[in-house]
Amino acid sequence: MATITPWEVKGNIDYDKMIKEFGLKKIDPELLTRIEKIAQKKGKKLHRLLRRQLFYAHRELKWFLDEYEKGNKVFMYTGCGPSGPIHLGHYMIWEFTKYLQDILDIELWFQFTDDEKFLFKNQTYEEIQKWTKENMLDVIAIGYNPKKTFFLQDTKHANLMYPEAIKVAKKITFSTVKGAFGFTNDKSIGEIFFTAMQAVPAFLPSVINNKKMPCLIPHAIDQDPHFRITRDVIEKLGHHKPASIQSKFMPGLSGMEDGKQSSSSGKAIYMSDTPKEVKKKINKYAFSGGKDTVEEHRKLGGNPDVDVSYQWLLFFEDDDEKIKQIYADYKSGKILSGELKAILIETVNKILKEHQERRAKANSEEFIYKN
Ligand code: TRP
Repeated sequence: MATITPWEVKGNIDYDKMIKEFGLKKIDPELLTRIEKIAQKKGKKLHRLLRRQLFYAHRELKWFLDEYEKGNKVFMYTGCGPSGPIHLGHYMIWEFTKYLQDILDIELWFQFTDDEKFLFKNQTYEEIQKWTKENMLDVIAIGYNPKKTFFLQDTKHANLMYPEAIKVAKKITFSTVKGAFGFTNDKSIGEIFFTAMQAVPAFLPSVINNKKMPCLIPHAIDQDPHFRITRDVIEKLGHHKPASIQSKFMPGLSGMEDGKQSSSSGKAIYMSDTPKEVKKKINKYAFSGGKDTVEEHRKLGGNPDVDVSYQWLLFFEDDDEKIKQIYADYKSGKILSGELKAILIETVNKILKEHQERRAKANSEEFIYKN
């Protein structure tokens, strides 16, 4: 059985089952065509994560696009829990969020939940503050529009956020939180309260502008319990229920059953890794769908469907033809596991190099919301 909460993801995940259990919808071909048309106006294709159903589920995306196309002011909201270095699993979602900002040309509100990480992790307040600063630079390096992107840091924007959070909190019972997150009685009262803070950016721009504005939240599917609670509650407060778009997880380096890629398991690739570290980690840990010997592999071929290097390429290699060729060649035994790993290493190192260059020039003053 898989475990999926915002704080723990383990085991083999049945994504179709999650759609049913969470009450989500699959992104259907009609929606894809609609997004593609919007993208084409900006000279872009449909994003590979949509083409490959890696962003695969949503709530009320049709409604959100209707509002957008009517010319109503809409915005996006996503976030970062600052407790360690940023890895490729974060990058994947944030780069997709940049794509949405590029094609829709709308505001993005970015929440840094330093309160959450202090409450849930065994780290001091000071350590979390350090990670918040560091992570902000990585978020800026993604390349969001500085004129339309606003950072909120929960402890620093408390004057704005706390009055809204208590309105949310008043409408959520202890038993709702227990049910949604699987909390037991040993949880601290801070942890129990926290979901109210993650709800706030979904409607804060409406409060600031004194205007009801539709919100779209791109996120990995483990964050869904927060927004399932948020939807009902903030509607009662007079705001729109937020729309959302959910991604699957990037598998951990050591395999699909490892749950998601995470810093806690130690086998993630960080945005700060050197080319040498990337090479070493992938060669050493990337679970292979290849055969034990070269002879056997040439004869019987490998299994790309369980091979982490191939799965990771689906997230980062944009060229569909190249992907198809790699799949066929690995399956037939023409490509060996070492060769497939070498392709992934090159792809990842290119992404990291460009990211690191942009990060070196980042300045967070430009992005922190000033009220
Ligand atoms: N709780 C998220 C984490 O631990 C961070 C976060 C805050 C977030 N607000 C969000 C993620 C909105 C997605 C969407 O990483």
